[in-house]
Amino acid sequence: MTDGPTTAPMRKAYARWAPIYDIVYDKLTEPAARAAVNAAVACGPRVLEAGVGTGLALGYYPAHAEVHGVDLSEDMLRRAQEKVEKRGLTHVKSLQVMDVTHLSFADETFDAVTAQFIITLVPEPEVALSEFARVLKPGGEIVLANHFGQASGPIAALEELASPIAKAIGWSSAFKASRVEAWARSTGRMEVVELKSLFPAGFFKLMRIRKSA
Ligand SMILES: C[S@@+](CC[C@H](N)C(=O)[O-])C[C@H]1O[C@@H](n2cnc3c(N)ncnc32)[C@H](O)[C@@H]1O
Repeated sequence: MTDGPTTAPMRKAYARWAPIYDIVYDKLTEPAARAAVNAAVACGPRVLEAGVGTGLALGYYPAHAEVHGVDLSEDMLRRAQEKVEKRGLTHVKSLQVMDVTHLSFADETFDAVTAQFIITLVPEPEVALSEFARVLKPGGEIVLANHFGQASGPIAALEELASPIAKAIGWSSAFKASRVEAWARSTGRMEVVELKSLFPAGFFKLMRIRKSA
């Protein structure tokens, strides 16, 4: 994969995060990751983990699943590969370096595409979402787990104040769920079917977006 002006800084950042990523994120993201995995496999066994990272969620899949993971960062993927080998996660069928805005999978390959804690990091999220929609089978779902900023009100104002801190740890409050909802409407064939608050205290959300059958 050749680096562009947006992918190079991201790969560099996650080369630094990779050695400490699991220590920081594992317990904090586990409930949201488990909810995303359950929603994804409910659509069928063939799942794409977009931005799979160190593979924290890979152990939450049932044995009958067929999971393919992609990520920009070789450093993160190496750790995911180690987990697959150490834990014998035979349901993980491939782990590849790939940009989620340029997926090399054929149209209508997957029952579900899940992207956990990544969509707000991608400079062109609509391009990534359109790629997820393309590789989804009709009736399949995009399952996002993420922090999304509040649309308005006192919490939104607080988030605005805290945004430099949130950005530093990788969670921007500037990105609202309404941006994904607007993208779904613009496609004419994707529909947000669930937006659910999760641990901790609703900070993370699960969003399911279904492709019409
Ligand atoms: C916060 S981590 C989340 C990792 C994993 N999904 C998890 O929940 O632990 C974000 C991941 O997205 C990856 N990423 C960011 N932009 C990407 C892109 N355009 N294509 C593929 N992966 C990307 C990063 O390399 C990083 O591994």
